[in-house]
Amino acid sequence: MGETVLRVSNLNVFYKNRDRKLFSKADKKIQALKGVSFEMEEGQVLAIAGESGCGKSTLARAIVGINKDYTGEIYQKYDRPQMVFQDPYSSLNPAKKIGWLLEEPLRVDKTRKWTEEERKKRVEEIMEEIELPLSMLERYPSQLSGGQRQRVCIGIALMRSPKLLIADEPVSALDVTIQAQIMALLQNLHKKHGISIIFISHDLRVVYHISDYVMIMKDGCVVEKGKTDDVYRNPQADYTKELLNAAGIRA
Ligand SMILES: Nc1ncnc2c1ncn2[C@@H]1O[C@H](COP(=O)(O)OP(=O)(O)OP(=O)(O)O)[C@@H](O)[C@H]1O
Ligand SMILES: [Mg+2]
Repeated sequence: MGETVLRVSNLNVFYKNRDRKLFSKADKKIQALKGVSFEMEEGQVLAIAGESGCGKSTLARAIVGINKDYTGEIYQKYDRPQMVFQDPYSSLNPAKKIGWLLEEPLRVDKTRKWTEEERKKRVEEIMEEIELPLSMLERYPSQLSGGQRQRVCIGIALMRSPKLLIADEPVSALDVTIQAQIMALLQNLHKKHGISIIFISHDLRVVYHISDYVMIMKDGCVVEKGKTDDVYRNPQADYTKELLNAAGIRA
């Protein structure tokens, strides 16, 4: 603990305006993040919460390099942060078997060459981490349950041992018991490997359960951030109070 793994300074992220009217003049841009700043220390679990459209995914995609149109600074101690998405089905190629999908990050690894044997060994290690039987390597995504598919997505993200994992609503598409299992898996990975995790959720109960720190966003801005315990016990911003109340959590 202690070293900064991620520092975001005054981040503004822009999108092209998709609903531009025909024959309207210059492409106007939409600013989805406005001056977002925060820092994360090694081994932390930081939750990002806030209503739909506040910019959580936009922030995640800027950190992993998908959103490139931004100003401000994103410092990262390590390269290759990995992301897990909400919908475990659409993020898996349905035409490929689980074994192939897990191996893919190694096949395309530009930093080193993995032999077939090394790839197989790594896949087996990861299957143990994500608690799936090896027999599932031969299946297609459609032959797995939603929870199993999300385990595979987490596994793919872990293949190259990232130091930072960004999970964007990773359990929202799953039913409650499966949610709990996936949360437990993420917590285990965190404990065992000390991976720093950014956990995006609109569910403040889940956030309380998993995170050390929390950042509340609204309309592209950071409204409040701090230790999860402190923010939940003594929220400063009215908006945070509103969210906690709406979730049935009393400060
Ligand atoms: N590709 C895009 N082009 C234009 N606008 C976008 C694009 N993606 C997102 N936006 C807009 O940026 C804002 C932030 O969206 P974002 O997806 O980051 O929200 P979010 O907090 O992740 O919401 P949710 O909880 O629903 O996932 C929204 O107003 C959204 O409409
Ligand atoms: Mg989102």
